[in-house]
This record gives sequence, C-alpha cells and structure tokens, in this order.
Amino acid sequence: MCFLFYLLVRGLRVGADCIVEFCVDRFMEKAESGSVNGSANVLSLDAVRDTLIRLEDTIVFSLIERAKYPINSAMYNESAGLVAGHHGSFIKFFVKRTEALHAQAGRYGSEEENAFFPGSLSCSLVSSRPSTNVLHPVAKIVNLNKDIWDMYINQLLPLITAGGDDGNYALAAAADLACLQAISRRIHYGKFVAEVKFLDDSPEYTRLIRARVCITS
Ligand SMILES: *[C@@H]1O[C@H](CO)[C@@H](O)[C@H](O)[C@H]1NC(C)=O
Ligand SMILES: *[C@@H]1O[C@H](CO)[C@@H](O)[C@H](O)[C@H]1NC(C)=O
Repeated sequence: MCFLFYLLVRGLRVGADCIVEFCVDRFMEKAESGSVNGSANVLSLDAVRDTLIRLEDTIVFSLIERAKYPINSAMYNESAGLVAGHHGSFIKFFVKRTEALHAQAGRYGSEEENAFFPGSLSCSLVSSRPSTNVLHPVAKIVNLNKDIWDMYINQLLPLITAGGDDGNYALAAAADLACLQAISRRIHYGKFVAEVKFLDDSPEYTRLIRARVCITS
C-alpha cells in the first residue's frame, strides 16, 4: 500500500480513483490467496506469478516517474565533474553511495536483492534474524546488473525521456535508481521461477542439468 501512497503524494493525479481501486483489488486478491502471509507459500507457482505481475507494474510506474525529467545527459558523463572530489559520473556516485548505505542496513542479505556495484559494499551493521533461504546458494553469484545498467542508460533512457537538461540531477538519479532496481528485481526473480520449476520435477531437471541442456522457456 505504500506504493499507492507514493503515487498519490507524487501527484500522479490522473485517475487516482482507478489507481486506488486497482491497488485495493490487487491487495485483496493477494490476501485471499494467502501470498501476503509470510513465506509459507513463497515457492508456489501462483505466488511467483503474482509477484512477477506486481514487479512489472512497478517497472512501468517507475519509468513514468523518470520520464517527468529530461534526459539530463551530463548525469551520465564520466568526465563532467559534477560531484566535487568524486571521479566518474553523477549517477554512479548516487547509486554507489545509496547502495553503500543500504548494504550497511542489511538490504543485500535478502535473496531478492542484487547490487549494481557489489564490489564496493561493506557488510551489514545490523544484526539480522536468521533468514530462511529458498534458493540454492550458487544463486548468489548470478548478477546481471552490469548488462541491465548498460541497457537502461544507453537504450531505454533515450526512448522514455525528452532531450534537454533541467538540472534536477538528484531527483532524476533517484528516479533512475528506482527504475534500475525494479528492472533488476524482475529479471533476477527468474532465479525463483527456475527454483519452482526445479522443485516441481527435480529428477528430470537434474538429468537436464547434468546433460548440460539449455532450457530457454
Ligand atoms: C498465516 O500463517 C500462519 C502460520 O503459517 C497460519 O497459522 C495462519 O492461519 C495464516 N493466516 C492466513 C490468513 O492464512
Ligand atoms: C562530457 O563532459 C565533458 C566535460 O564537460 C565534455 O567535454 C564532453 O563533451 C562530454 N561528453 C559528452 C558525450 O557529452
């Protein structure tokens, strides 16, 4: 529900009533199907499907937020020197520093989270409860964020934004990070899809993995 709150506060007034209705419906559906009730059925195919739909909605809304600002190319220029004492682009400065804080608060302890700059993160400073992991440990090393970053900045961003520069770098960078994280979550959720399918027919998938058969659907 805080996503709804965010939309309203940011002034996306078009059809606010429809959005309320849509969100409440979605929320009720989830409550009834039990997928808001802890991790009991995290790995049912239905729960995974619901999550995929929700993640896609989040991508669309975060792209709409970013499209409010022009492309602001200087933010992505490695040699524009926008941040005193920092080499590299404004966007990298923004994302690295944000991820550093989130890492210290324990964000990347979650199996659903993948950092864009995992090399420069410190450990969590927060003692956390032992989590129940559902993925195979090797899933941790699957991180496609470098490709997602390049695709988003070089291909997607020019398509969704107007040309020009309004100087709103911090706001545009925050919107970029929301888009990047939404896309990353959706793509990496494929790990959970793979796990569900594997658990559904372990002997057959084990055979295919041993035979190194590549499954693309
Ligand atoms: C939520 O999960 C708990 C523990 O697994 C269970 O006792 C409870 O009945 C569940 N609630 C709903 C609404 O399904
Ligand atoms: C990046 O910024 C530098 C320094 O301001 C400038 O010379 C260069 O043309 C910019 N590059 C692009 C691709 O805009």
